[in-house]
Amino acid sequence: MTERLTITRPDDFHVHFRDGAMAAAVVPHTARVFGRAIAMPNLAVPVETAAQAAEYRERLRAARPPGSRFEPLMTCYLTHDTDPDDVERGFRDGLFTALKLYPAHATTNAAHGVTDLRRIDRVLERAEKIGMLFLMHGEEVDPAIDIFDREEAFIDLRLGPLTERFPGLKMVMEHLTTAAAVDFVSAKFPQVAGTITAHHLEVTRTDMLGHGMRPDLYCMPVAKTERDRKALRAAATSGEPCYFLGTDSAPHPLARKAAMPAAAGVFTAPVAIETYASVFDEEGALDKLEGFASLFGARHYGLAPNPDTITLERAGWTVPATIAVDGPDAAIPVYRGGGQVRWRVVE
Ligand code: NCD
Ligand code: ZN
Repeated sequence: MTERLTITRPDDFHVHFRDGAMAAAVVPHTARVFGRAIAMPNLAVPVETAAQAAEYRERLRAARPPGSRFEPLMTCYLTHDTDPDDVERGFRDGLFTALKLYPAHATTNAAHGVTDLRRIDRVLERAEKIGMLFLMHGEEVDPAIDIFDREEAFIDLRLGPLTERFPGLKMVMEHLTTAAAVDFVSAKFPQVAGTITAHHLEVTRTDMLGHGMRPDLYCMPVAKTERDRKALRAAATSGEPCYFLGTDSAPHPLARKAAMPAAAGVFTAPVAIETYASVFDEEGALDKLEGFASLFGARHYGLAPNPDTITLERAGWTVPATIAVDGPDAAIPVYRGGGQVRWRVVE
């Protein structure tokens, strides 16, 4: 039995770092393991311009532990007013790595998102021309569509047509949660790749709702069925380069997670690579972890893999229930806090 595993240092292609004291508390948890991370732009004041991205990147860099070589990669929050020239300048200056679509009101801090996709045509045309990636929160937000059907509806109504209208635009459908999305990505790769979170490999809607309501497991897109979870596990461990790691680690203060309504988002950064390793181990696929975590995402983004490695070992440890934040937010609940994880990173 494999007891130790050394892999190229992984990247996380979808993380929420927030800002201020919250960022200071959470950035070190990602920087401890990952070489780079795609930083989501859905701050209270979203990151919509290259100038805002430059400033936010500096704040994130300042939150790294001393000596860390971790690099945040910045994204542009699309609105009806996004300026294609600013996007292109930001991309050429290395400030923007990708565009991010939030359908309006789909999730946390998405109130400024896009209601009419046609109104981002010009910026998508530009991205297609300059080779910039288009990332999306793939959920249809029409209230007539059931929450468990939102991802499939987005594929049928939005993403399918987009891939045809912009055949040269490289995309990432983020945080896949359904067998349908797994199949769509497999059929559309290399144009469309998909990220898979650690928690969606473990949690179903039954876990979230079936044994007392669990706001700690509540996120967007919400966890789906056991059949979907199995499809996600098969995809992640398949060794197919169309699926790669994106945690969607999304910290919220305990008071917001325990509120009514509860905030959507699961904070997994302190247990992310450890959870993926445990899942790959359960699936008898530890040999596939490096591709998924460290190689395929970088390839889709046109980046070289990280130059160094990390080592994991099979050794149980107890996940802290919360991490502390300076100020009124006080504590952020951690995914599986208080529970055991079977793999850990060798420091
Ligand atoms: C994210 C957040 O909290 O910013 N929440 C979530 O449930 N995943 C936003 C997002 O990625 O949907
Ligand atoms: Zn997210």
